[in-house]
Amino acid sequence: MLAHYFVLLTSISVSTWATIVFDGRVPGDAALADFDSLDSIFDPEFTKGESVLFSELLAFVDDDVSLFDQQASAKSIEITIDDDSIFAPGGAAPQTAVRRAELSPNPAQSVDNVTTTGVKTLHFSIKPSPERALNVSHEYLMVFLERADFAGNQISLKTGTLLGSDGATKNDLVLLGNSNDGGETLFTTAFEPDDFTNFGLLMDFDQNTIQIFQSTGTDALVQQTESLSNDLSGNGQLHFGLNKNPTDPGEDVLRSGFQESGILESIIYGGIYVEDSADGTITLA
Ligand SMILES: *[C@@H]1O[C@H](CO)[C@@H](O)[C@H](O)[C@H]1NC(C)=O
Ligand SMILES: *[C@@H]1O[C@H](CO)[C@@H](O)[C@H](O)[C@H]1NC(C)=O
Repeated sequence: MLAHYFVLLTSISVSTWATIVFDGRVPGDAALADFDSLDSIFDPEFTKGESVLFSELLAFVDDDVSLFDQQASAKSIEITIDDDSIFAPGGAAPQTAVRRAELSPNPAQSVDNVTTTGVKTLHFSIKPSPERALNVSHEYLMVFLERADFAGNQISLKTGTLLGSDGATKNDLVLLGNSNDGGETLFTTAFEPDDFTNFGLLMDFDQNTIQIFQSTGTDALVQQTESLSNDLSGNGQLHFGLNKNPTDPGEDVLRSGFQESGILESIIYGGIYVEDSADGTITLA
C-alpha cells in the first residue's frame, strides 16, 4: 500500500475564475486541419505513426459535450488508431508492437514546464467510442504524464487487461502512480460506456502528492481520495489518446508480443485543461 496522508482542504470550491495555464479545450469553430498547424493547441508532430497527420486521426464529436467543454463552448474529439499507428521515435527503431495516437500540449503553448510545476489540477473527460470499441484483451494507456527524460511515467490512466494482471479490471479506468515505483493503483472506477467520466487530478509538484476528483456525465467533480504520495518529479509531457500494448510481450514491450491486424479503435476526450491550484482552488463544475 502507498503511504498517504490528509491535507486540509480549506478552500476547495466551485470557481469560474480559475487561472488556466494550459487550455486544451477545442473551440467549437475549430477545424481538423488546425491540429496539423504549428500553432495548434496540441503538438502537431507527436505521438503518431509517421506518414499520417493528426487531422486524419481525429474527428469532432458534436452531439456529446463534456462537463468542462459546456462552459467554454468547446467540443469533444475522437482519436483513432489503426495498423499504421506505429511510432518511430527520432533515431530509434519503430515501436512495432504498440499502436499509438496521442495528443500532447504544444510546447509553444505550455512553456517553462507550466503544467508540471507548482500546484496544478489536470482536468479531462474521457468516453469510449460507440462505434470503434477497444479490445479489452489488450492493455491501453490513455492519459499519462511522461518524464522529460522519457525514463518513466509519473501517472498513467489505463484500461483493458493490464499487463501482468488477470484482467479483473479490464472494464475499468485505473489510475496508476509512478511507473518507477511499481505503478501502484491510486484509483479505480468503472469505464462508463455511454457517459463521459470526468477527472480532476490535483498535483502538487513540490510536495509530490496527487489527489483524485472524479464524476460521471454532467455531475460536479467529487473528491475520491485523500492526498496520496506520488513522485511527480522530472517534468515532461502530458499525453491523451490511445497507446495499445501487445498481449504476451516478451522482454521488450515495444517490439515483441502479439498485436492483431485490421484494427480501427477510438477514444473520445473533452474538457482537457490545466488550472493553477496554488491557492487551494479546484474547479468542480
Ligand atoms: C523544464 O524541465 C526540464 C526537465 O526537467 C528542465 O531541464 C528545464 O530546465 C525546465 N525548464 C524550466 C524553464 O524550468
Ligand atoms: C482482441 O485481441 C485478441 C488479442 O490480440 C485477439 O486474439 C482477438 O481476436 C481480438 N478480438 C476482437 C474482437 O478483435
